[in-house]
Amino acid sequence: MDTLQIDQCEICIVGAGIAGLNAIFAASQYLGRNDRVVLVDRRTRVGGMWTDTYDYVRLHQPYQLFTAGNIKWTLGKERSYLATKPEILDHLRHCLNVISKRVEVDERFGWNYVSHEETGSLVRVTLQAPDGQTRVITAKRLIKAFGFQVEPNPPLTVSSARVKSATPNDMPRIVFTPSGLTGEVDTGTTVLAAARQLGVDLDSVCGGRGICGRCQVEPSTGSFAKWAITSEATALSDWSSMEVDYEAKGNARRPLREGRRLGCAAAVRADAVIAVPSESQVHKQVVRKSVDLSGLVIDPQFRLFNVDVPKAVLGNSESVTELIGEAIVRTHGVAVRTWSTPDGFTIVWLVLAP
Ligand SMILES: Cc1cc2nc3c(=O)[nH]c(=O)nc-3n(C[C@H](O)[C@H](O)[C@H](O)COP(=O)(O)OP(=O)(O)OC[C@H]3O[C@@H](n4cnc5c(N)ncnc54)[C@H](O)[C@@H]3O)c2cc1C
Ligand code: FES
Repeated sequence: MDTLQIDQCEICIVGAGIAGLNAIFAASQYLGRNDRVVLVDRRTRVGGMWTDTYDYVRLHQPYQLFTAGNIKWTLGKERSYLATKPEILDHLRHCLNVISKRVEVDERFGWNYVSHEETGSLVRVTLQAPDGQTRVITAKRLIKAFGFQVEPNPPLTVSSARVKSATPNDMPRIVFTPSGLTGEVDTGTTVLAAARQLGVDLDSVCGGRGICGRCQVEPSTGSFAKWAITSEATALSDWSSMEVDYEAKGNARRPLREGRRLGCAAAVRADAVIAVPSESQVHKQVVRKSVDLSGLVIDPQFRLFNVDVPKAVLGNSESVTELIGEAIVRTHGVAVRTWSTPDGFTIVWLVLAP
């Protein structure tokens, strides 16, 4: 066996997930600044299971509740916000930094807990270091915060060559402007198909055969902080034979303008921001310069009547509804009918056109 190196500490905590952090937080309440806690985790950083989730995975509950002890988040989002993996990992690192100011934390990432034995008032914890050597830590207490150790199921075997397995992490994200509609699509999806999947208003009358030219779009390049996306010139497939043919035929009504692509021919390869010009929208807004309203009679079902109602006088038997009814008749000369509902409380007004 390799030379056994023995370290000593007050508490050895195995597991640097939220449970382990809460354990150190609790320990930091009663340990002194010079007391040493050894934090062991076989992963290479703090965060526990969140280290291995996809980036788009979020908490199920408002983020401020997911913390070590009472350590506040620095995220500054609205209360109901559900934090994402990178935000959670940042916060858990922040928690460990805060705790490390209260107590000496010796971080042993990449170390594996192997076993432990109790000897008198101490516990000897056997670990395997990243270099494969065995190390022993003697501690007054051992806290095992390493979760339920549930082995994940192996991935299902793909049973058909036509089945593609993808996660939103590997799928390009596309943002359409001006609508702002966005989503992930399979690599190779045409811009027109992506628009249909996401409910974007992009015209097409030839069924995507490169004839009508109504599906023209303008790919945008650059970094777009608003959508946290970088759209490069290579985000769409190369100029296609369909576009070459379309230009060669020279559609005079709808020439393919510079910087534009046929949405039915250009396929999405990577994250992309795509502008849909107004002439490519079926339901584009139409601004009319002059409106001819001749012959239009405005006859609404409901009208507003302003009335002055005399003050109610003590002893006067007329109710407020009767006073209002009389005021409408007097001021506007329209017929008013009132009646009570069977429960005797509600008075309904019916104002008839004069
Ligand atoms: C999508 C999703 C959303 C969730 N939303 C919420 C939520 O909103 N609120 C909430 O409270 N919970 C939520 N959870 C659950 C919560 O995140 C987990 O229950 C919690 O993170 C588990 O933390 P843990 O510290 O117990 O375990 P883990 O995070 O699994 O940490 C255990 C650590 O122990 C280490 N370890 C294990 N064995 C050893 C060993 N032998 N040697 C060294 N290290 C070892 C592992 O490497 C790991 O880092 C959510 C979970 C998911 C998947
Ligand atoms: S849909 Fe007709 S050219 Fe693209």
